[in-house]
Amino acid sequence: MTDSQLIALAREAREHAYTPYSRFPVGAALLGRSGRVYTGCNVENAAYPLTTCAERTAVTKAVSEGERAFEAIAVVTETGATPCGACRQILREFAGPEGNLRVIVADLDGGVRTFTISELLPAGFTPDQLG
Ligand code: THU
Repeated sequence: MTDSQLIALAREAREHAYTPYSRFPVGAALLGRSGRVYTGCNVENAAYPLTTCAERTAVTKAVSEGERAFEAIAVVTETGATPCGACRQILREFAGPEGNLRVIVADLDGGVRTFTISELLPAGFTPDQLG
């Protein structure tokens, strides 16, 4: 699975976004260590704070289907936006001890930026810190 293929899957998932309030659709595609890909989109609600981000949709789908270790996630928006703070924490949970999950951020015009989750969430709270 190349980064371009993962971005293409995130772009497709973005088509399913339910965004009547923000009109800001987001698509995500999460690549598991197994090679399986779990897609997600944002799902908004008339009670605004109940919105689920695209990244969290993808993580929840994956974990609920038995996969907990991931290589990369692609996130596609019109503007090439980076994941929100809450999603960074959710991703960090499943990024391994070094936090080297790759986060590929793409816009609709071919712009791509790649980070690790540790770059996006330095010194983040990790499961091992619970002791
Ligand atoms: N959103 C995501 O899906 N992921 C992010 O990381 C940032 C924000 C969604 C939430 C809401 O539906 C819309 O984008 C505007 O905030």
